[in-house]
Amino acid sequence: MSYWVTSYSEFVDQDIILSRTNSMTDRNVDKSMQLFGRACELIPGGTQLISRRPTRFAYGVSPVYAERASGSRFWDIDGNEYIDWVSGIGAIILGYCDPVVDAAVREQISKGTMYSINHELEVELAEELIRTIPCAEMVRYAKGGGDACAIAVRIARGFTGRDKILFCGYHGWHDWYLAANLRTDVEQLDASLDSHLFPGIDPIGVPKCLAGTAIPFPYGELDALGNALDDHRGEIAAVIMEPFRSELPPDGYLAGVAKLAAEHDVVLIFDEVSTGFRPHASGAQGLVGVTPDMAVFAKSISNGYPMGAVVGRRVVMEAASRMFISSTYWSDTIGLRAALTTLREVRRRDVPQIVHDIGTRLQLEITAVARETGLPARCEGLSFHPHLAFDVETPQQRSQLSTLFIQEMAKRGCHGYTSFYLNAAQTSGDIDQTVAAARETFQIMAEGLEQDDLAELLECQQQVESFRRLVR
Ligand SMILES: Cc1ncc(COP(=O)(O)O)c(C=O)c1O
Repeated sequence: MSYWVTSYSEFVDQDIILSRTNSMTDRNVDKSMQLFGRACELIPGGTQLISRRPTRFAYGVSPVYAERASGSRFWDIDGNEYIDWVSGIGAIILGYCDPVVDAAVREQISKGTMYSINHELEVELAEELIRTIPCAEMVRYAKGGGDACAIAVRIARGFTGRDKILFCGYHGWHDWYLAANLRTDVEQLDASLDSHLFPGIDPIGVPKCLAGTAIPFPYGELDALGNALDDHRGEIAAVIMEPFRSELPPDGYLAGVAKLAAEHDVVLIFDEVSTGFRPHASGAQGLVGVTPDMAVFAKSISNGYPMGAVVGRRVVMEAASRMFISSTYWSDTIGLRAALTTLREVRRRDVPQIVHDIGTRLQLEITAVARETGLPARCEGLSFHPHLAFDVETPQQRSQLSTLFIQEMAKRGCHGYTSFYLNAAQTSGDIDQTVAAARETFQIMAEGLEQDDLAELLECQQQVESFRRLVR
């Protein structure tokens, strides 16, 4: 079977016709690849989210289109079953089709999902968020993470009357953020998204007059942040950052960030979109004990139903009442109901403890299997979002090993990257199956490394540059 992709030239070489013989299993993803071919003719870029582009996985081996999902698993349109270690790119925290959340949503649907006037749920969810999240005294809603970040940045600009934003890591697709890649007169080393997202993003369509308004800073270096605040004294509205991602921050770092922000009268925003309530039932800020001025949540806040929230100190948030921040679907009750129910279930089931236990076991057993097979790899990072680290000499070897891992695991029914997004529906049986698949996969990888023929083992093209974030 050959797969020919068109209109996807920035990621897939159109001259390459991939032919794949998936010899070890009878799995194939033919329907997925055919559908993706059609999508590329109709949808610029092929998918709506870069993290769902098939080139991010093992292209031609990994599934591209899901048909249904339940608990910790999904089924693709070719009828293959997978354990899902991506958890809906982090949006699924309780598991797919969670019975409690879905029942609450169904009940809501039976009463209508949006109205000409407001619904009580807006207030109920606000009360729940304020009870749950340390920095939350007032709340606005959104439908996604990028939306929520854009709202938070607008509020911070409105509150301070300043324009510039210091940021670290990824915060969505909006103009305020991509402005970092507009050239300024004074070119600074690394004054772009190159090391925060991935290199070479052309900010086409972002107004050039925004140049110099979004300035990156490196994670973990207080001096660099202090210098940036000094260099732009009186001009910075906000510092926005993920407090951490898959490693805990260096000791005292976030407290130092909060101190610097306060000294410069700058609004500190924690972007908790990806971490959500996995680290702690009060979010990442609950785990690190540092309270920002504002925080944004989306994704796992509502177990996959579209929803986002911007929360923060009353004095900052109140500025929003004088600003034009308004959208019809932010009050849609499916998202509100799903978020309220998910938050309550996270606390009732003690989801942070569940994902900690699953992740710890996964890390230990995968690392043990690497040792057993002689592969120079470890599964490390925070328990709720562990990742594989390959101890090899060249970036090329690392990239080949990553792709080979994704490829061989997909062939054995485990879908993922080289990192693992956990959810509370993943079971002991899922870990057993994943570890058994990793044992066979690591064996192949170790032999390929030993014989220096990793390239020959790839049945797909090498994975395209993954999201890079300058956040641990
Ligand atoms: C930290 C962070 N902020 C913002 C976003 C954007 O969220 P969305 O894709 O819902 O717009 C993401 C998505 O991955 C994220 O990880």
